[in-house]
Amino acid sequence: MKKVSFAEFGGPDVLQLIDAEEPHAGPGQVRIAVRAAGVNPADWRIREGQVLKAHPVVLPAGVGLDAAGVVDEVGEGVEGVEAGDHVFGEGSSTYAEFAVLSAWARMPEGLTFEEAAGYPSVVETALRILREVGVRSGQTLLVSGASGGVGSAVLQIARDRSIAVIGTAGAANQDYLRSLGALATTYGEGWVDRVRQLGHVDAALDLAGSGVIGELVELTGDPQKVISIADLEAPKFGVRFSGVAGSVPDALAEAAALISRGRLHIPVEKAYPLAEAAAAHIDSQAGHTRGRRVVVV
Ligand SMILES: NC(=O)c1ccc[n+]([C@@H]2O[C@H](COP(=O)([O-])OP(=O)(O)OC[C@H]3O[C@@H](n4cnc5c(N)ncnc54)[C@H](OP(=O)(O)O)[C@@H]3O)[C@@H](O)[C@H]2O)c1
Repeated sequence: MKKVSFAEFGGPDVLQLIDAEEPHAGPGQVRIAVRAAGVNPADWRIREGQVLKAHPVVLPAGVGLDAAGVVDEVGEGVEGVEAGDHVFGEGSSTYAEFAVLSAWARMPEGLTFEEAAGYPSVVETALRILREVGVRSGQTLLVSGASGGVGSAVLQIARDRSIAVIGTAGAANQDYLRSLGALATTYGEGWVDRVRQLGHVDAALDLAGSGVIGELVELTGDPQKVISIADLEAPKFGVRFSGVAGSVPDALAEAAALISRGRLHIPVEKAYPLAEAAAAHIDSQAGHTRGRRVVVV
């Protein structure tokens, strides 16, 4: 099968499309014929060897954590899914013709494979950090970096829970944030005053890692009311860094339910052929987007 792989850590040019042996579903896993794989910033951080503690890598290594496709092997002990089912979920080496998933849910009706591949990691992250930050219905959440994959999920799940949101994004994404139910303002010079003019903030999420933890603490008045997923300096301000996936075991089923109810829709900004995975990484690393990027097989 064809698979995107890298034999050394480095820039996008270390990615190669190679012929590789097909993986097989082990106990508790399914194998899918991949139709699309989600592109996450984690993919290029792993490729660069930045996050070896959280994601140990044996070279040569595959790329990709999220995918959507058609089940073609069901591992020992797995129930409730069979060959031919359309699923989306999390696994490893998903930029490939076949991949093994360790968590999955049936794709909601009406979703394309490209759209479905964009959800798994970002929805897991959004549900996790909303729980960890402890924001409740009727309160206001500030989201720094609200227009990307995680931000798109956070804003819509918050809206579904009657949590008001103030989001920051680039000038081109202000209407996008408003379309997801948030009050919007731009990041950059003067942003703290612009947020204050939009209202009181009860809790805050840093999704961009743009060095704003001090300001988020100032705006909420309490480091315990701030969570970062992108700034390793956060603990220096008494702020929690959330980095361990898996604490919301039913995240994919919850995502499927939200999508089916029409409460969650994350747009695909761009789809790239498998052979152009390096271009997807270059665009993701540039740090600006509206929704998700995916690689199609
Ligand atoms: N710790 C964890 O568990 C975990 C899980 C998932 C992701 N992450 C990390 O969280 C970050 C976001 O992930 P993602 O998938 O949402 O990324 P993404 O889809 O690439 O989105 C990045 C967003 O950051 C915004 N941005 C860029 N510069 C900014 C600035 N100075 N201030 C505020 N926002 C800015 C961009 O907005 P514009 O396009 O509007 O400029 C863009 O929407 C990444 O660093 C990723 O590695 C961590």
